[in-house]
Amino acid sequence: MILDPIVTTELTIIKPDDWHVHFRDGAMLRAVVSETARDFSRALIMPNLVPPVTTFDDVKRYRQDIMAASSETAFQPLMTLYLTENTDCNDLVAAHESGYVHAVKLYPAGATTNSESGVKNINKVMPVLEKMAEIGLPLCFHGEVTDSDIDIFDREAVFIERVLAPLREELPGLKTVMEHVTTADGVDYVLSQTQNMGATITPHHLIINRNHLFKGGLRPHYYCLPVAKREKHRLALRKAAVSGDSRFFLGTDSAPHTDELKESACGCAGVFNASNTMACLAHVFEEEGALDQLELFASTNGCGFYGIEANAAKIKLLKQSKPVQFPGKIVTELGDVTVFDPGFDLYWSVQECSA
Ligand code: DOR
Ligand code: ZN
Repeated sequence: MILDPIVTTELTIIKPDDWHVHFRDGAMLRAVVSETARDFSRALIMPNLVPPVTTFDDVKRYRQDIMAASSETAFQPLMTLYLTENTDCNDLVAAHESGYVHAVKLYPAGATTNSESGVKNINKVMPVLEKMAEIGLPLCFHGEVTDSDIDIFDREAVFIERVLAPLREELPGLKTVMEHVTTADGVDYVLSQTQNMGATITPHHLIINRNHLFKGGLRPHYYCLPVAKREKHRLALRKAAVSGDSRFFLGTDSAPHTDELKESACGCAGVFNASNTMACLAHVFEEEGALDQLELFASTNGCGFYGIEANAAKIKLLKQSKPVQFPGKIVTELGDVTVFDPGFDLYWSVQECSA
């Protein structure tokens, strides 16, 4: 990392990876893949398609579709398998051995978009989780309980207490990632764990709190799951992200839905932020006086957790004197997709570095 200590207007970092992204398939995939492939070398692709990516064959097909849709030939999709109560251990081992599959995703059934085929009873997937611990395949999880008597703002903390802590006690050798951590409780839990525990943090959870969802009216484009929490939680996430601690790394959770589906009586959960993630992060890290930690968060901590080499390529972040204009919407055959609006001007832009 090269950083000017007086006035930082230029920052060269190892090219980042996105450790949690939703691409969808078909026309949506074709429209959004380049938004990620432009600034990221690799991305961990979430498997919650309809139907979900549950088998090695599904993974092979989906990976091909992503490669075909991306014009960036150097972009590498790192695939995940969607865990169900019927996941087959032999199929999972074959998927892992192929080198394509880097994690398995656990959605508690009903927790979020396309999670209906997810896990209802964790005991039913214990043999699969044991096999994953044995072969070193990480488990990424959506860390929220779905019980209707639990308040939506408490779902993460209750998940930790009821599901995660017991699971980690039973299987300490399983690598686990708390995806899109949103609370101080989540951050504290991760910090209490000395091995095999990581967490991704999204750009939007570093920027908005739950008030933003209702500021001046209902803001559907800020609605995602887990939902943004109180300010104290946002501040805890910021502290974790800029700390440089190797357990925290970038996962954008960029999740495209058309405006029609977001701006409806029962709007979909998801923030689409792939287009301006690095500009938002540079802004946040600069605000926190921590630009020197951005490379750890966006480019190296995740690789360390997943046991892969950091990218050889670099990018240059340039701070412009005037606000940088990002597209407000991505046009797709299915309809427009609104890009995350951080609510302030962005001054940082990304430039490719020659090798
Ligand atoms: O807000 C979300 N959107 N959270 C998720 O967990 C899933 C995602 C999606 O796929 O739209
Ligand atoms: Zn997600």
